[in-house]
Amino acid sequence: MSVKVLGISTSPRLKGNSDLLLREALTGAESAGALVEYIRLCDLSISPCVECNYCYETGECRIEDDYKIVSAKMLEADRLIFATPIFFMTVCAQAKMLIDRCQCLWARKYVLKRPLITDGSRDRRAMVIAVGGTKSEKMFENIKLTMKYYFDVLDMQYVANLFVNKIDSCGEVKEHPLVMKEAYRLGCELVSSATPPPKKPVDVEFT
Ligand SMILES: Cc1cc2nc3c(=O)[nH]c(=O)nc-3n(C[C@H](O)[C@H](O)[C@H](O)COP(=O)(O)O)c2cc1C
Repeated sequence: MSVKVLGISTSPRLKGNSDLLLREALTGAESAGALVEYIRLCDLSISPCVECNYCYETGECRIEDDYKIVSAKMLEADRLIFATPIFFMTVCAQAKMLIDRCQCLWARKYVLKRPLITDGSRDRRAMVIAVGGTKSEKMFENIKLTMKYYFDVLDMQYVANLFVNKIDSCGEVKEHPLVMKEAYRLGCELVSSATPPPKKPVDVEFT
């Protein structure tokens, strides 16, 4: 059976830099035999977590919106590629909204002690693509921490980061073939289960 790769594009810009890199990574994954699916959060309606704690009793989110669609896809996928622009040194609001809504998965696992993935032996891996317009110290540090906890909740191994800085205008990353090539390569590599996941995510940085 083919490995299922889900790509989540969170940028508000259609064909923005992180979005283009995500599409390239998915093309790479497809070339390696994966079944790929792309979703763009801005095409969906997802509202923020309201901390009602309904999920502490049910393991489900009470808000009726498109989060349920994305949640099902995240749990079904074998691989996840999460793409975000850097906004104020962290993920964009659209990305954070989705991440916060995963609190119901956290509650299911850690409060209700119910397994998220029924087939617990599945090899699930995830990587991040993040693009910032400037270059500043520690600009990817917040993302790393947030994504570590998000992937942990999803029961996914955090295997790689593609971090790119000094790319600002919409679609500018297309003028950087080495970066595009690296996204393709990482997408290919993500599909394989030939080697065990690394203990820490591998950082590929373009500055
Ligand atoms: C609200 C906002 C906040 C931003 N904050 C940062 C930042 O903290 N650091 C940075 O390097 N770039 C920042 N940028 C620039 C974007 O990261 C940059 O334009 C990037 O290429 C956007 O990626 P995208 O095309 O995938 O949306 C910000 C842009 C916006 C609109």
